[in-house]
Amino acid sequence: CRLCKLCEARNTIVFGSGNPRAGLIVIGEGPGADEDAQGLPFVGRAGQLLTRMLESVQISRDEVYITNTVKCRPPSNRNPEPDELAACAPVLAAQLATIGAKVVLALGSVATQALLRTKEPIGKLRGRLHPFGSAVLIPTFRPAFLLRNPGQEYKRMAWEDLKLARREYDRHRAG
Ligand code: URA
Repeated sequence: CRLCKLCEARNTIVFGSGNPRAGLIVIGEGPGADEDAQGLPFVGRAGQLLTRMLESVQISRDEVYITNTVKCRPPSNRNPEPDELAACAPVLAAQLATIGAKVVLALGSVATQALLRTKEPIGKLRGRLHPFGSAVLIPTFRPAFLLRNPGQEYKRMAWEDLKLARREYDRHRAG
């Protein structure tokens, strides 16, 4: 893909990984250095924390699908820019439509704001459900943010969000 300028510095496209029939899809911001090297999302330190976050509510990485708003690493891990998000949006929309997950776990401001088309900060968006087409979207903090801010308060909030995701995941699977 050469639809945006992220193609110039990337090593690999990080399309996504996991269960193509997942009931829950996890959407991060964009690949970091480890992801760009391996071609898989969330495989570095933040990825290991994501695995533990999911496991804390008895969800395994294998049963969900994991991807990002942009599929190529932004240089120096800067935030993806609006033109890059726009170029990649049809790919994410196609993934969402194909997988058809009823629960979307959005990690961080960039992913949540892009998906919900809002400018509200993550601190205001998290902690509750947002309608998202025929699905529900649950925003929470990025694992990288939690690693940089190891206080109990953020951890507790992330745990609340994950329990909400777990509840919705069960509700949609039952019904
Ligand atoms: N952080 C993200 O937002 N995405 C990844 O794939 C890895 C770390």
